[in-house]
Amino acid sequence: MRRPKVSIVGAGMVGHTTAHWLAAEEVADLVLVDIIEKMPMGKALDLTQAAPIRGVDVRITGSNGYEETADSDVVVIIAGVARKPGMTREQLLDTNAGIVRGVVEQVSRHSPQATLLVVTNPLDAMTYLTYKVAGFPRQRVIGESGALDSTRFRAFIAMEAGVSVEDVHGMVIGAHTDKDMVPLPRFAHVGGVPLAHLVPADRIESIVARTRRGGAEITELMGSSAFFAPGAAIAQMVEAIVRDKKRLIPCSVYLDGEYGQRDVCIGVPIVLGRDGVERIIELPLDARERAAFGASVGAVREQLGSLKL
Ligand code: 2OP
Repeated sequence: MRRPKVSIVGAGMVGHTTAHWLAAEEVADLVLVDIIEKMPMGKALDLTQAAPIRGVDVRITGSNGYEETADSDVVVIIAGVARKPGMTREQLLDTNAGIVRGVVEQVSRHSPQATLLVVTNPLDAMTYLTYKVAGFPRQRVIGESGALDSTRFRAFIAMEAGVSVEDVHGMVIGAHTDKDMVPLPRFAHVGGVPLAHLVPADRIESIVARTRRGGAEITELMGSSAFFAPGAAIAQMVEAIVRDKKRLIPCSVYLDGEYGQRDVCIGVPIVLGRDGVERIIELPLDARERAAFGASVGAVREQLGSLKL
């Protein structure tokens, strides 16, 4: 049986960390692509040399072109510039739109049946651009946002409540921006116990605020963008697709009437399996959550206005 094939376009820190998580779990054969000459070949060889110790039988290759990516089941698009301390993700729009457009034209031609996972920022706008340029069904174009923001939310809840991360469930919807993401504490729970039963309201507010700045806090500490949690979130999504796990994960997807919205990509809970977006879950949001989500959609629409599509 053919092993699943996953290509990762953009072999910087997030790209190689994604490859590391995926290789360690023996999820798929991997192709790392980057424009930096020889670099992806070096990283692929390094991972290949680690495989005997980990006992993982996956083929990992690197390339400066797209031929090697042909017939991928999933293509992860990370190419582009990352933010530096003090920058917002939205400031990357013009530069990254040009890069992502070029990548999507290549990967959609070489892997017409693939599911495209978008990671480049500003995330929701780049997911929308990818959907429009690829011309794939909306089920096969998915942005990473909520998978990453939700793991940050869950980590902070576990720290505050003093419980295992394994028992913490929580999700973040809306735009992948510091200002407009929408953590949903009312839906969060620890092993079935509502979060509000375990953590006082003011501490929940702090967790929400810290989640919103989850990426920015790391960028300020390290001087560069995060990669362990982003890589783990991408790997979770890839695994859900290639192993048809039907995971319920918030991701940025193209809405066509759901949540009363059309023609926009934004984070909402979906069921993720072999067919990509298998279902979009419409949550019973209360008035405050609905208003926050509406504002978030508005912020993404503003970005879409500057994309020359
Ligand atoms: C983050 O939040 C890079 O957007 C990514 O860390």
